[in-house]
Amino acid sequence: MLLDAVICETEVLASDTKLFRIRPTRGEDWVRAEPGSHIDVNCFGELTRQYSLFDLDEAGYYTIAVKRSERAGGISEALHTTAVAGTRLRISKPRNRFPLGAPAHAVLLAAGIGITPIYSMQQQLRAYGVGHHLHFFKRDAKLFRDRLAAAISEGAATLYEGMSSEQIRATLYEILDVDHAPNTHVFACGPAGFMDAVIEIAGRRLPTTHVHIERFQPISGASDGQQRQFEVVLARSGVTCRVAQNETILDALAKCSVKVDASCREGVCGACVTRVLDGTPDHRDSFLTDAEKLGNEDVCLCVSRSHTPTLVLDL
Ligand code: FES
Repeated sequence: MLLDAVICETEVLASDTKLFRIRPTRGEDWVRAEPGSHIDVNCFGELTRQYSLFDLDEAGYYTIAVKRSERAGGISEALHTTAVAGTRLRISKPRNRFPLGAPAHAVLLAAGIGITPIYSMQQQLRAYGVGHHLHFFKRDAKLFRDRLAAAISEGAATLYEGMSSEQIRATLYEILDVDHAPNTHVFACGPAGFMDAVIEIAGRRLPTTHVHIERFQPISGASDGQQRQFEVVLARSGVTCRVAQNETILDALAKCSVKVDASCREGVCGACVTRVLDGTPDHRDSFLTDAEKLGNEDVCLCVSRSHTPTLVLDL
């Protein structure tokens, strides 16, 4: 459910990135968010998008950073060109699918706008006195420079500016392909290529359960594959819906008047994840981990399909 909210403040963070401080219209709708949380933002009737929260101590407000997309006509362009203090929009309550947990030591990795959830984590680890180091790869010198000044001067953060993808990969080897302290966890957020490199290199030294990522773009080609029709059976309501070749499970459910939570519709945010009771999903999302996909206990309804003629869902 989306809530009425208003933009209270905007700030230019970099040449292509703006901060928006947003207040729910009804004060009681605000809840404190944890590091890693995001909210859905919908404005001007555009597609809803997810944005990670930072500056979490600002009671009553949610703060997001929006990078202007190269794609014209999307929500980021609308926010950049039209939204000002006083603009009304709709937001969700915070959801956290990228929790920090309680690591003994943390390696924090961010690229570009992926800094927002990672910065919130760094703030909490610093406040709790947990050992960590933040590595931030970026193109714009201004982005989060002031916010990270204290961590840099304490030796807890390193900035890398204007590196090529080969240089970034070589640096990730230096950071990750080493002996880590016991119970070290890696947290990373950035574009698809960066995340793929983090998973591959961190996996050489750490168990997959210690490597945590948040994507904001689908994995390239993840949703490709054969488009066969199949059925979904909703175990709780007894409804059966046919999913045609060129429609998603979400679309088919909507036709059957079954409403399910959804947000990105690209297999990235996890809002539509639903429990599978029988059948084998054909996972095409960029949200579930490889282990979760092998377990076949959950499916992303917005992009995934079915290997079996029928998929029974806990709906
Ligand atoms: S709606 Fe975001 S993963 Fe399905």
